[in-house]
Amino acid sequence: MSKEELWQEIHEGVVFWGYEEGDQLIGVMGIQDVKDVSLIRHAYVRTTNRNQGIGGRLLSHLRSLTTRSLLVGTWADALWAIRFYEKRGFRQVNKETKDRLLREYWSIPVRQIETSVVLADERWFEAQTQTQPTKPF
Ligand SMILES: CC(C)(COP(=O)(O)OP(=O)(O)OC[C@H]1O[C@@H](n2cnc3c(N)ncnc32)[C@H](O)[C@@H]1OP(=O)(O)O)[C@@H](O)C(=O)NCCC(=O)NCCS
Repeated sequence: MSKEELWQEIHEGVVFWGYEEGDQLIGVMGIQDVKDVSLIRHAYVRTTNRNQGIGGRLLSHLRSLTTRSLLVGTWADALWAIRFYEKRGFRQVNKETKDRLLREYWSIPVRQIETSVVLADERWFEAQTQTQPTKPF
């Protein structure tokens, strides 16, 4: 992401949290309140520092900052990221719901919608069953 894109994201309400070791930034993860939910945005840990629990710690911290349902969008091919979120209580929503959520909460091109998945936390699924008890997700 370029510096300009980063400023644009911050301008649009993404709050970035960093994980530092010494004076080095090792990992970042953003959170953005959109309408009634919070989105996890731009999770990234430096390649050499992965699998050390840093992403998990950042995600736990971000979760502690909000009482809203959490959604995260990622590439359908990013199996490592999908697994990372699934192991931490997120579940993929079905295709129809994914398309709707990406249009409702994200500003991304149509082509990117096709290649993305959305995962939601338990709070989001609970909220859906309270409002629409018969609809599968
Ligand atoms: C997804 C991403 C942010 C995860 O960050 P991370 O720091 O590697 O995450 P963690 O270390 O917390 O967890 C990853 C694995 O390390 C393992 N792990 C955690 N602490 C560990 C430790 N102390 N020692 C060894 N392994 C450990 C965990 O078991 C976990 O495995 P699991 O997912 O099978 O449970 C990172 O892989 C990344 O930056 N990927 C590229 C960008 C990307 O795909 N972003 C997501 C798009 S939204």
